[in-house]
Amino acid sequence: MSATGKKRAMMADDIRASKGGTPLVSLTAYTTPMAEMMDAHCDFVLVGDSVGMVLHGLPSTLAVTMEMMILHGQAVARGLTSAMMVIDMPFGSYEESREQAFRNAARLMSETGAGAVKLEGGVSMADTIAFLVARGIPVMAHIGLTPQSTNTLGGYKVQGRGAARDALIADAHAVAQAGAFAVVLEKVPATLADDVTAAVDIPTIGIGASAGCDGQILVVDDMLGLFTAFKAKFVKRYAHLGETAEAAIATYAEEVRNRAFPAAEHVFADEVPQT
Ligand code: KIV
Repeated sequence: MSATGKKRAMMADDIRASKGGTPLVSLTAYTTPMAEMMDAHCDFVLVGDSVGMVLHGLPSTLAVTMEMMILHGQAVARGLTSAMMVIDMPFGSYEESREQAFRNAARLMSETGAGAVKLEGGVSMADTIAFLVARGIPVMAHIGLTPQSTNTLGGYKVQGRGAARDALIADAHAVAQAGAFAVVLEKVPATLADDVTAAVDIPTIGIGASAGCDGQILVVDDMLGLFTAFKAKFVKRYAHLGETAEAAIATYAEEVRNRAFPAAEHVFADEVPQT
């Protein structure tokens, strides 16, 4: 609670402090109505660059721009009062230099009101993470399957298998030591996710990782069955809203074509003057 008696919004420090406690709940959001539905249930909401694929029909996250992230970030911020908002840094907005990363992270935070940024990369991004954190920008790291790098990772494959296991553990240590307040582990074997969770002192947020992570995140359109272009094996569908919406649209189309659509004189029959 804040001094005014209102429940205050979660902050990066609250997320960090929850390490080892009740698992953190999080989903992606891109619009105000979805954010409103999640606010009471999530500890943090991610404005993910997955927005490019699930809302804009792009084939990957690579073409997502700063402007798209800012527009969706502003929409999500209007729907949140207690959950923290984390916003993704899009591809090409942070990899070139620490200074470029700071400039764009500061813009994302100041123009949307996000409480933190998320960026992809482990050892290779540790220096950038430390630079941002030292300048007041809380950073959530993202390692394992990093969708912005699928062209060099060879697709959307499970990461950290075999010889790659040690490299993934090194990535987790590097981002924790650089000052990230949490780390997303995407598509890694459960035993590896459990080992990373035990090894680092910041919360691990799993997506296709392990129930033993300190928290979980899913893409909301995946778990609601709204995004049906493809489904990762690890995604559980909690609803089938895409099918429901399509059936409703089909019913509407049929009613219009059959002139069964409720006409104004029928709907407002009791308001028609009696003669
Ligand atoms: O963009 C996104 O939705 C993400 C989640 C998959 C973690 O980064």
